This record gives sequence, structure tokens and C-alpha cells, in this order.
Amino acid sequence: MRTLITNGLVVTAAGSYPADVLVDGETIALLGSDLPGAGITADETIDATGKYVVPGGIDVHTHMELPFGGTVAKDTFQTGSKAAAHGGTTTILDFAAQTKGRSLREGLDAWRAKAEGHTAIDYGFHMMMTDVNDATLAEMDRLIAEGVPEFKLFTAYPGVNFSPDDHIFRAMQRTRENGGLVMMHAENGLVIDVIAADLVAAGITGPIGHGLARYAILEGEATNRVIRLAEAAGVPVYIVHLTSRDALEAVTAARGRGAMAFAETCPQYLFLSLDDLENGFEGAKYVCSPPLRPKDHQVDLWRGLRTDTLQLVATDHCPFDFHGQKELGRDDFRKIPNGLPAVEDRVDLLHDGGVVKGRITRERWVEIMSTAPARMFGMYPKKGAIAIGSDADILVYDPNRRRTISAATHHMDVDYSIFEGFEVQGTSDVVMSRGTVLVRDGAWVGPANHGRFLRRDVTDFARIS
Ligand code: URP
Ligand code: ZN
Ligand code: ZN
Repeated sequence: MRTLITNGLVVTAAGSYPADVLVDGETIALLGSDLPGAGITADETIDATGKYVVPGGIDVHTHMELPFGGTVAKDTFQTGSKAAAHGGTTTILDFAAQTKGRSLREGLDAWRAKAEGHTAIDYGFHMMMTDVNDATLAEMDRLIAEGVPEFKLFTAYPGVNFSPDDHIFRAMQRTRENGGLVMMHAENGLVIDVIAADLVAAGITGPIGHGLARYAILEGEATNRVIRLAEAAGVPVYIVHLTSRDALEAVTAARGRGAMAFAETCPQYLFLSLDDLENGFEGAKYVCSPPLRPKDHQVDLWRGLRTDTLQLVATDHCPFDFHGQKELGRDDFRKIPNGLPAVEDRVDLLHDGGVVKGRITRERWVEIMSTAPARMFGMYPKKGAIAIGSDADILVYDPNRRRTISAATHHMDVDYSIFEGFEVQGTSDVVMSRGTVLVRDGAWVGPANHGRFLRRDVTDFARIS
């Protein structure tokens, strides 16, 4: 099957230029001006006049079917990946989880079984590592050989995922030998639990307690600490879901002294705030960790994205229904499952809030939602590029079309939207994955099990600025 995309503006991280794009099979075969005039034919032609032609979105932080707090994140690989595609994301990297006391292998096998044959877009895995011991350290090497090169550890969630500093350091030392990457959830979970208990004892049991207990300074402290541990081990480190000025300052300082510290933020921290946790138990819809921050942190995060202190935006998609799941914490905010639905809205929110609102260029938009994720996670230039030989993961993107985000129309399997009523400018007319159109004008037209496992290589972070 050959598809010709004509008359569009190709937007890449490096620049924008008018070009026709020929897709042959699963990859991009040719780029040039007036390809039909040059005699190039195809089975289908898509007229992209007035549209952008951009690489499909890559979301490197999702949690499909993740068990958390006595329940399970609602989106399956099937529902979540279709929702992602509807929103212009053609690749996800999800977190396989180690069960405490069991092997990494078992965790990865379980996640591969959940995803295989049930995922609409290409997918890969990072590994959430709970136990650090001789056996799991040796397993890290084997997982890397199988295309799973990143390991997420936590300074949060004591008793569940929490790792003490010496364990984090040992995992980092191992990545110095095997070339893997440690990703860190950086909040001081031990201190947060003390403050949370104090709040509950003082009668603050509603969702706002979640935001009040998890001080930004405790994210800043943990971020600085894990970066220092990585410097001591002589390895790069990647901070997931960075939310606050305090944490950003730690990353800025580290990068200033030449440390290989990298970080992502998420749409919820760019567009929502602590105020959203205030509305009685409705605030439970916005409970995630680290929590939403006071609104004035947003300007710092946008600055971080402009200056490349933050390299990319991922979603941390981890949806729980309000009814029946978030309600588990009706009497105590500590029991509200942590996580938000966002995988469907990232690309359009960043276009509207970033490009349309003048905070970033359209090239930077492509970079933070696709190209940088591909570069940092071993997928470039197969993914994240409009280039000859790259996978034809392509969005024909209308930068002027408007839509209103709503749970009534979204495709995520969750009973509310954190962005309900947001009107965004810009959305995908066509979403193509490896040459197959999955979504056209908002309707699903592709196979539901199109996705393939991505076996990824380690990244040479010395090459990433
Ligand atoms: O609230 C969150 N972020 N839930 C998902 C698990 C995690 O820590 O990423
Ligand atoms: Zn986390
Ligand atoms: Zn997460």
C-alpha cells in the first residue's frame, strides 16, 4: 500500500518546510515537492493543504492496567492505546511492575501478556523496580538485552514501591555498567507520610489533604538527592512527572554543573492546579502524585520546556473512575488511588496551550511530544521523525480545527475528564501508524491490534544535551 500526503507543511523539531510525503508500506519512502508532478503514484492520496504533517506523538509514561491502592487503573492496553491514537499518539512506553518479592522477569512477562495482541499502537516497556538485590540487579542486564532499558525507582510510597538511598545507588551503579537508565519518582515519601498522618489527625481527610501533605519542597529535596546520587554513581538520571519550581531548580542547578540530569513534566501540571483539589470530594478526580501545585508553578514549567531544562512532556496516564475507584478514599485522602487520565489530550493541549498561546514554537511542540521522547528512549529515527526510512507514524494535523474536551466524547475508559470543557485549537485529521490509517476525522478506521512491541536500545546520554 502506498499513500501520498500532498501539499502539507512538514513540521519537525529542526524546522518546517512544504513537502509531499510518500509512504510505502510501513515507512516513509520519499519527501519532495510536487511528487505527483514528478510522476509518483499511490493507492491513496491525502490532501494536506493548510495542515501540518508531523511525526506521531510518543508518550513515554503510561500505566495501563496498573494495580494501585487496592484497585487497578481502568484503561486496558486496548482502550488506552485506542484513546492515545485518537489523540495523535502513535507510540506509548508503559511501566511493567515488579511485585514485591517476585522477579523483574515475572513482572515484565505479565505486562507483555496484557499488551500483546491487544494494543492498537506500537508500545514498549520500562520496568518499575521495587526490590534491589543481587538477583534483581542481575536481571536488569537481561531486561536491557530484551529491549527494556529503563528502571523506575521511587523515593515515594513507603511500604509499596519505596527504595532507600543505598538501593537506588546500587541500581544506578549497575546502569553505569550495563548502560541502562534509572528513572526516578522523586518525592520524600517518608516525610510526606508523617505530614499526611498529622493532617488526618487534625480532621483534614478530603482530597485537598493530598495536595497539602506533599510539599513542593519535598519534591525539590528528593530531586536534588537522587541527582546527587546519580552524580556520585557517574550515571545519567531521568526525573519523571516533575511538577514544581523546587524540583525544576534542582534540575537547573544540576545541568548547570554539567550533570546528566533529564526530566519530563505532564499536561496536568501545566494546565491544572492545587485549586482543583479544593472542590470537596470532587477534588479526588485530581489526586495524583506528585500533586497538582499552586498555579504560579506553571510559568516555571513552561520556562523549563522552553529552555530544555525539561526535555519532554509525557502524561503519567493512570485513570481511575470517580465512581467506585476514587471513592475508595471518601473518608481518608490517603486511600484515594493516585493517577489521572490524560493520554488522549496531550498532543492537542500542548499545541493549544503551547503553540497557539505563544509559549513555544510549533517545532518545539513536535520536539517535546515526539522527537525528544524518541531520542531519549532508543527509538530515533525509527520514530519521532518525518524522514526517509522512518516508520510512517504520521499526523495530518489541522492547526485551526477546534474541539472541546469532554468525558462525553473521549475514548479513555474512565467516567470523567480532568480537562472537561477545555476548548483546544488544533487536532489530528488523520492518525497513521506504520503506514496504516487508524483514525480519520475522529473515527476509528484501523485494526484494533495493530501495535507491536518495541525492542529498544540503550541510549548514549552523552549525545543528548
Ligand atoms: O499518581 C500517579 N502518578 N500515579 C501513577 C503511579 C506513579 O507514581 O507514576
Ligand atoms: Zn511516579
Ligand atoms: Zn507514573
